[in-house]
Amino acid sequence: MTSSSSVIHHPACVLVTGGAGFIGSNFLLRMVRRYPNVQFVNLDKLTYAGNLMNLTAIEDAHNYQFVQGDVADAALVQELFATRGFTTVVHFAAESHVDRSILAPLAFVQTNTMGTVTLLEAARHAWADRDDDPARYRFFHVSTDEVFGSLGDDGFFSEETAYDPRSPYSASKAASDHFVRAYAHTYGLPVSISNCSNNYGPYQFPEKLIPLVIMNALHERPVPIYGKGDNIRDWLHVHDHCDAIDVILRRGTPGETYLVGGNNERSNLDLVTMLLDQVDEVLGRPAGTSQQLITFVKDRPGHDFRYAIDATHLRDALGWQPQYSPEDGLRATVNWYLDNQPWLDAVNDASYRAYYEQQYAAR
Ligand code: NAD
Ligand code: DAU
Repeated sequence: MTSSSSVIHHPACVLVTGGAGFIGSNFLLRMVRRYPNVQFVNLDKLTYAGNLMNLTAIEDAHNYQFVQGDVADAALVQELFATRGFTTVVHFAAESHVDRSILAPLAFVQTNTMGTVTLLEAARHAWADRDDDPARYRFFHVSTDEVFGSLGDDGFFSEETAYDPRSPYSASKAASDHFVRAYAHTYGLPVSISNCSNNYGPYQFPEKLIPLVIMNALHERPVPIYGKGDNIRDWLHVHDHCDAIDVILRRGTPGETYLVGGNNERSNLDLVTMLLDQVDEVLGRPAGTSQQLITFVKDRPGHDFRYAIDATHLRDALGWQPQYSPEDGLRATVNWYLDNQPWLDAVNDASYRAYYEQQYAAR
């Protein structure tokens, strides 16, 4: 077994996929400025979830370039590997919304599974000299805790938890994780996998719970809570997730999986109530006003009850721990969306509204 100190990876040219989405754009905004000597190429299809507005702060940076394209387009991906000299892939691109995966699963198979295998194939061929220097290349696959299924009232997911995906989204991500592991095992591809809990923070598309609640409260629209609101998620600020990826990418042991979580479990109802109270405070509304917008709606089919992460391995092996306290992180997030209403208005377009209607018509 190679010791981790002998395989510290120094990225030189990084292919970031899905860098115009929520987590990918936060990652690029941090890393392009943190590492001015590293080149970053952002390959993004610009689906409804991708938005170049997120990246205006770095669009002219000397070490950043955007390429519009599909990770499942083998010819394009191979050409990029052949011409750019990537040392590193950080793979975020995905269809990421559980509710959409229930409405239309095939796009999830195509992007999340086929797209990942397309990238793995390109890396396997382009990095043919990988055995000469195990530290030279790294394929980082950004995955989710949802691959482990659902917890009851007790217990935590850890690196030893068996896979048990239960939605089309999580099944497509689990399949992609298995392919990444298979390429490490069969071809010796130097990979890292992270499985992270629910992220929150700036630039999250408002189909997801936290920005949806803030946007609807702002416009005094109903705030939908699935079922009774007793499902539990473990929330982590997106900057903490990005910093975990950075440390695993550089110092993680190739072939290992790391679980990333916030140690911040909340029921949906508690979380939404807290967010609505903060919105009232910031907008100067009388306390309790926005809570009246809460509307209990039919539950998500197959709704996972609880996710919770034991991130001990990442903390002990690499010294990572969240820097945001949940209170500060959530408050900063409410402020960010209320300060960035043009961003919310821009993404809340006709296609988004059509999805929203379809979502409720299907329930
Ligand atoms: P997102 O939906 O906000 O962004 C996805 C990005 O991928 C968009 O920019 C989109 O245009 C792009 N994309 C989609 N299909 C593509 C394709 N075929 N080719 C190229 N680009 C494509 O997603 P996110 O929330 O930022 O999640 C990023 C990754 O992190 C995903 O792999 C997701 O499974 C994982 N993850 C997310 C969370 C979370 O809480 N959001 C938690 C853990 C893991
Ligand atoms: O755990 C990591 C996962 O977290 C990521 O892999 C996914 O990409 C990401 O979307 C997220 O999945 P969830 O399904 O947990 O997130 P979402 O924001 O859709 O929902 C959070 C919880 O809130 C969930 O229990 C469903 C509930 N919910 C959601 C919406 C959109 C509501 O009650 N009402 C809503 O309108």
